[in-house]
Amino acid sequence: MIIAIDGPAASGKGTLGKRLAKHYGYRHLDTGVLYRAVGFALIERGIDLNNEIEAVHAAESLDPEHFGNPALKTQQAGDAASIVSAFPRVREALLNFQRHFAEEPPGAVLDGRDIGTVICPDADVKIYVVADPVVRARRRTLEAKGRGEAADEALVLADILKRDERDQNRPVAPLKPAEDAYLLDNSNLDIEGGVRAAIDIVEAVR
Ligand code: C5P
Repeated sequence: MIIAIDGPAASGKGTLGKRLAKHYGYRHLDTGVLYRAVGFALIERGIDLNNEIEAVHAAESLDPEHFGNPALKTQQAGDAASIVSAFPRVREALLNFQRHFAEEPPGAVLDGRDIGTVICPDADVKIYVVADPVVRARRRTLEAKGRGEAADEALVLADILKRDERDQNRPVAPLKPAEDAYLLDNSNLDIEGGVRAAIDIVEAVR
């Protein structure tokens, strides 16, 4: 069983993915972490984020042991991810890891931008999560403050809109719902409400 969750920045897909995986006893992969790790590797080494060759090299030598690094959660890492993720060869380098993860038993939940469209086009269930950008900015600001980072909601909103626009308009694997994805708008739902709505979707197709 493979559950694919896609959606724009800060739509709540990561939290939803984690909760669904726990509910069903499946493994969970937040695929944004892979692109964040590539971007962060370049930042750490002072390399220009537009350097495709170095970005591909970083993608080919990722170490999953480092995926838990808190530095990957920052807005800076997210922005860097959205730049390096536009390189087709970076995406290619990360493809097998994601597909293998999806196929290992007992089942998996993957969340990202292109899971239902590119990584797992045959996923059993595809959910496309959306939420009002203002709501997303508020949630992300609270999250950042919770980690003790300074965050201004208006700037966070501007960043989210810029990232959505970049992810939706890139030529390779742009952010968009798969044709057979179920739309879940969680603008007016809390976490529990979103999880219940997603479980209803999974149960309806299982
Ligand atoms: O979801 P998250 O904010 O961690 O993703 C960071 C960036 O990584 C996104 O803005 C997007 O550019 C890229 N990404 C992607 N494909 C995925 C997951 C993330 O291109 N499957």
